[in-house]
Amino acid sequence: MVINQLTTQKIITNNIAYIFYRQKLLFTLDFFYFYAKYHTLYFLPSMKKLIKIIGVLIGLIVLLIAGGLIYINASGIPHYKTTPMPLQVQATSASIARGQKLVYMLCMFCHKDPNTGRLTGKKLLDIPPEFGEVYSRNITQDKEQGIGAWTDGEIAYLLRTGVAKDGHYTPPYMVKLPNLADDDINAIISFLRSDNPMVAADPTPDIPSSPSLLTKLLCRVAFHPLPLPTHKIELPDTNNAVQLGRYLAVNLGCSECHSKDFKTNNQLEPEQSEGYFGGGNQPLNEQGQVMLTPNITPDKATGIGNWTKDEFIKTLKTGQVKNQPALRYPMEPYVLLTDAEAGAIFEYLMTIPAIHHEVKRSGI
Ligand code: HEC
Ligand code: HEC
Repeated sequence: MVINQLTTQKIITNNIAYIFYRQKLLFTLDFFYFYAKYHTLYFLPSMKKLIKIIGVLIGLIVLLIAGGLIYINASGIPHYKTTPMPLQVQATSASIARGQKLVYMLCMFCHKDPNTGRLTGKKLLDIPPEFGEVYSRNITQDKEQGIGAWTDGEIAYLLRTGVAKDGHYTPPYMVKLPNLADDDINAIISFLRSDNPMVAADPTPDIPSSPSLLTKLLCRVAFHPLPLPTHKIELPDTNNAVQLGRYLAVNLGCSECHSKDFKTNNQLEPEQSEGYFGGGNQPLNEQGQVMLTPNITPDKATGIGNWTKDEFIKTLKTGQVKNQPALRYPMEPYVLLTDAEAGAIFEYLMTIPAIHHEVKRSGI
């Protein structure tokens, strides 16, 4: 009986233990089941979902970028609203002569067509190919193909801001003249309207440029029209050589080519350009090769600090350099500058900060 009782007791205890054991096992199983269920039913799908969401997001971003690029490519160079300028240029023989000199130094090498001998435009060979195929335009007096139907104000507005009559922005491969004196802008317009054969009406049609996607993109994000000057820009005092020299050095594009890089140039305040006149910029020649620009600051070792004024005038006007091969495209001799003007540029250059920066001439 005792044994029986004990046995019964044992059996009960064992059973309870078993039940506990089972419970524990079940609990453990339950836990694993729950864990597994949680993972398979909730966690795994949410991981999948997450991947899906990330995938969809990346897809959307790619689509947006592709859509944006397709839009930019299709809509081309941006257009801007133009402000009409009430300008009526009074040409005189002096202003036409002055304008001719400026056009010869500032516009001819891009707009003169070797086939017509007039400013009917041509393919520009020294534009880096990544910017696309670029043709300058017919700027003779032809009303259809040229700019015969443009008002003086429309021409001035383009030259100041870079925005053409129809509102389209002309990319950096068309010159802008934010610092040229009002009288000189007017002189250029006087010449364009004159009876000089170079600008006589010629119906040669424009060849449209095909700017690359890169150019179109840059014209949205980096290049923008320049503001119209808020005040009259006066001619320099020709008796002040440094002032005259600065005016010419800035407006004839010397500073743009001879500073560090077109990308870091400051057109409105040229002195703020990186490496002002320190050279190293990389314009191309007509074969598309880089032509490094020399340092023409007064640094004695790497600039032109040891040049005499006469040597400088001769180099600038003839392209001849002492003890060196002659200068090559795009550094064309400035044959139209007077000695006083070329000398003034030298006087000015001798006043700017010297930059120690060695630049070897390309291919020599
Ligand atoms: C570095 C080359 C270059 C120089 C220098 C240059 N141009 Fe241009 N010009 C162009 C190109 C390229 C275009 C066409 C721009 C475009 O496709 O939007 C153009 C367009 C124009 C137009 C617009 C014509 C039209 O029918 O839309 C005028 C006007 C013009 N230039 C006048 C001038 C004058 C005046 C000068 C000198 C002060 C000058 N350009 C200097 C390259 C140049
Ligand atoms: C379109 C770009 C461009 C413009 C604009 C330009 N230059 Fe140059 N210049 C060059 C290049 C490139 C060379 C070197 C040519 C070579 O290596 O044959 C050079 C060479 C020179 C040199 C010779 C320096 C030396 O150490 O041998 C002088 C001086 C000079 N330029 C002055 C000027 C002045 C002053 C102006 C403005 C009136 C000017 N340049 C406008 C690109 C330009």
